[in-house]
Amino acid sequence: MAVIAVDIAGAPYEVRVGTGLLASLVEQCRGKLRKRRVPIVTDAHVHAAWGAVVENALHEGGHEAVWRILPPGEGTKSWEQLSATVDWLLAEEVERGDHVIALGGGVIGDLTGFAAAILKRGCKFIQLPTTLLAQVDSSVGGKTAINTAAGKNLVGAFHQPSLVLADLAVLDTLPRRELLAGYAEVVKYGLIGDAGFFAWCDANGDAMIAGDPGLREYAVAHSVAAKARIVKEDERETTGLRALLNLGHTFGHALEAQTGFSERLLHGEGVALGMVLAARFSAERGLLPRASAEHVARHVAAVGLPNEISTLGLNCDSQTLAAHMLHDKKMDAGTLPFVLMKGIGEAFLAKDVALSDVANFLDAQLRR
Ligand code: NAD
Ligand code: GLY
Repeated sequence: MAVIAVDIAGAPYEVRVGTGLLASLVEQCRGKLRKRRVPIVTDAHVHAAWGAVVENALHEGGHEAVWRILPPGEGTKSWEQLSATVDWLLAEEVERGDHVIALGGGVIGDLTGFAAAILKRGCKFIQLPTTLLAQVDSSVGGKTAINTAAGKNLVGAFHQPSLVLADLAVLDTLPRRELLAGYAEVVKYGLIGDAGFFAWCDANGDAMIAGDPGLREYAVAHSVAAKARIVKEDERETTGLRALLNLGHTFGHALEAQTGFSERLLHGEGVALGMVLAARFSAERGLLPRASAEHVARHVAAVGLPNEISTLGLNCDSQTLAAHMLHDKKMDAGTLPFVLMKGIGEAFLAKDVALSDVANFLDAQLRR
């Protein structure tokens, strides 16, 4: 098992990465489960796959699992499900010192974390991430949120978990498309600040995706350690460091918006395409060698992720995509910061990008 310390001032915690952590849940959570009844929020897919393991683990440790099983999918990050979940936690008489458990992907983690952030002005929670994306990104760092009619993740809070248990066994039941979507976030850490890790992805990505346990542990632990270093320095995304984690997200967000935040394009797939676009846009501005941008595009395609927006059947022009960016929550005083690249492993925040340049660039990408 790998243990990564997330040393956030005032709210430090551990991320443990290994196989069989759900089965030893009570031992892993020693000192945290104060009551016999343990409230767990999950979704129906995850409950079907892993509910019994968690339930048995709690039962053997003298606890009783109390479930809130939500519909799978992005639609669950809603005011309605937030409100109903908070009411359920109140009915369960959860107190501020109690822990709520989030068992699921980023949807369940974000919703449960936000419910925990506002319940009685904040109770504790534990993340049991069950997608690769949640293990390497969303369960770590304390961003919690729901979506509203105006857009994704527009209402939320920073609220750190007390513990994250990334059990690699859960990845065995994850659909391959979801696994690949999560892999995009793994590659992201290499592109942001670790050329050596990108080279590792080049050499080992396929075998890691295919299921090699040692490679999976390395990929998840290395990604979590990278994120931990960043959120320790810039928990609230105020210095620009944490903003680097948005590499590919501004382009990706526009693509997700254009495809209706639907199954047509998963978040991680949008990030993969967005990273390719960020690399190519950086090359167009003379910041990054073209060969490096195409290296990123080749790597993304080689593992089976999309790398050309022309294949998405978007049926829109570049102005429409650029307009989606105007609604990005990262807009700051009328400008939209973009994460660009000077090299593989050398991402930086550019605040001088004109949206008209982005639109011209996207025009050419749509016609490729
Ligand atoms: P998700 O939670 O919707 O899970 C994807 C699908 O996989 C769902 O159908 C789910 O039921 C199923 N699933 C999950 N684990 C499974 C398992 N082990 N076996 C079988 N099926 C399983 O999607 P996601 O990609 O994990 O998360 C996406 C969400 O994360 C988005 O809402 C995004 O905004 C958010 N996010 C948040 C942060 C953050 O820092 N808080 C970072 C990145 C993404
Ligand atoms: N996923 C981006 C962040 O946590 O800041």
